[in-house]
Amino acid sequence: MLRTHTCGELRKTDVGKEVTLAGWVHRVRDHGGIIFLDLRDRFGITQVVVSSENEKAYEVAASVRPEYVVQVRGIVRERPEGLANPRLATGDIEVHALTFVVLSPSELPPFEIEGRKEIDEALRLRYRYLDLRRSRMQENLMLRHKAAQSIRRFLTERGFVEVETPFLTKSTPEGARDFLVPSRLNPGTFYALPQSPQLFKQLLMVAGFDRYFQIVRCFRDEDLRADRQPEFTQVDIEMSFVDREDVLQLVEELMQHVFAEVLEVTLEIPFPRLTYEEALKKYGTDKPDLRFSLTIDDLTPLFLEEGGGVLSQKEGCVVFRGLFVPQDHSLSRKKLDLFAAEARERHLALSWVRKVQEDFSSPLKGKVPETLFQRLVARYPFGEGSVLLVSWGEEEALQEFLGNLRVQLGREMPEKERFAFVWVVDFPLLEWSEEEKRWVSVHHPFTAPFDEDIPLLDEHPERVRAKAYDLVLNGYEIGGGSIRIHRRDLQEKIFSRLNLTEQEVREKFGFFVEALQFGCPPHGGIALGFDRLVMLLCGADSIREVIAFPKTQRGVCLLTGAPSPVEKEQLDILGIALKEEKR
Ligand code: AMO
Repeated sequence: MLRTHTCGELRKTDVGKEVTLAGWVHRVRDHGGIIFLDLRDRFGITQVVVSSENEKAYEVAASVRPEYVVQVRGIVRERPEGLANPRLATGDIEVHALTFVVLSPSELPPFEIEGRKEIDEALRLRYRYLDLRRSRMQENLMLRHKAAQSIRRFLTERGFVEVETPFLTKSTPEGARDFLVPSRLNPGTFYALPQSPQLFKQLLMVAGFDRYFQIVRCFRDEDLRADRQPEFTQVDIEMSFVDREDVLQLVEELMQHVFAEVLEVTLEIPFPRLTYEEALKKYGTDKPDLRFSLTIDDLTPLFLEEGGGVLSQKEGCVVFRGLFVPQDHSLSRKKLDLFAAEARERHLALSWVRKVQEDFSSPLKGKVPETLFQRLVARYPFGEGSVLLVSWGEEEALQEFLGNLRVQLGREMPEKERFAFVWVVDFPLLEWSEEEKRWVSVHHPFTAPFDEDIPLLDEHPERVRAKAYDLVLNGYEIGGGSIRIHRRDLQEKIFSRLNLTEQEVREKFGFFVEALQFGCPPHGGIALGFDRLVMLLCGADSIREVIAFPKTQRGVCLLTGAPSPVEKEQLDILGIALKEEKR
């Protein structure tokens, strides 16, 4: 070994030992005749002292700059009285150099490794290997590793088997576009990279594996955001002979285990549950952030009963919703006007009621009947400074608007929980796609409908509920799954409801439908978005902060330059010709 100890290891008990350390020069201070160096590796920092009395070592030490990789042999000494550094684990000691060797010099890095300044993300990604030297990134990736190990241990103990499934495969529909890989051996044909291992994990249930998991890369060609990457990692889980409760309970226990092991945080289980409908009504979204208790309230019956409909210029389906903001949130008049302007942009209206001393001030006063106003203010626990936001308009737009407003206000609230999990259940099975002019699956076509809703499939597809569930943490969807269809007849019925022709089904999913004929156990499962989970465990605000080599919002790897053009010969071998405009 080129070292006897790491840079985070030496303590007072090591004083007097001769040791060899190796690492990166973190900082150098030359005090004339004596050089102090902080030597860094992923385990910590150790102070090295090089005295000019040791001429050879001193000469080399004087020539190094931050990020040089060096090797130091020396004696561990206790730091002089009053000079110990309690912020460092090795802060009681220093190593007095006997020999000092440069193993590898470094150019001046494009940014300071432990500087305080915010570094442009593009620069960080361009030099990711330097960015990854920063303690924050080291901590994030360490935590990611810890979480992965914790999940593996838990699932293994519960009898799950880790099985790898193919990357070069056929498309599985998860609602995104596929990344395609041309096949050289079969010209004109393509593999699709898996959007998820959905069909393979179901086939593993048919094969009798009973409990499967995989921490697996998935690929989706979709528009990217802070919580989306074109390749990302799922904790993919499938179980046989289970119903919804079994899956939810397993995942709750898994989360409890991981949060305890990784963060020493105790989670209370079971997690609260909301139906999809409740989530939209009360929180304006199917991934509500429950760290704060603000809820949206349906005021439509009250307004319509008491003649509040006069407010609406439009005929027909106008709904009224309220968002009550308690007094511990300061909402200025300027902010309220801003919200009203934002509402107008979305063809919605927004007004408010504010408690001022013993009275209420509100632009609604005089515009709606007095009894309505009185009943409205009696509904909420108004205190000094409380504000009730009242907004009305078309339901879907209103829901989204108030949902966003709720999150914006909630995130500014002083008191909020650190982690708020919630299950969203009872999703609709199908939704109408205007674009495709057909019914499409809300989750994926292998999700089972509620047994009692099956008869509605033909006449009222919109009313069929799915045995599907999403796990939401702090407003992020961190997992989704369902109980699956395990009978061929029902699976075929769903495919036909999705307007897939028999031929299309045969071409796309023939192998799968066939498998359902050979004794498929009832089964279900879930996939957790591992990057999102780790992001929340780390308190980061983008999954790029917890992925070693992520891509930009445009799907580009700034470090390697991928994706990039390829040689014409390579395309020729694959039998591919580019269209003129794509060259
Ligand atoms: P779903 O499509 O809901 O389900 O994906 C599961 C979870 O994966 C995460 N996720 C992503 N994370 C980062 N970048 C992305 N582009 C991205 N897309 C999804 C989310 C999501 O909740 N086969 C089903 C699971 C099942 O039914 O068992 C599936 O893939 O956190």
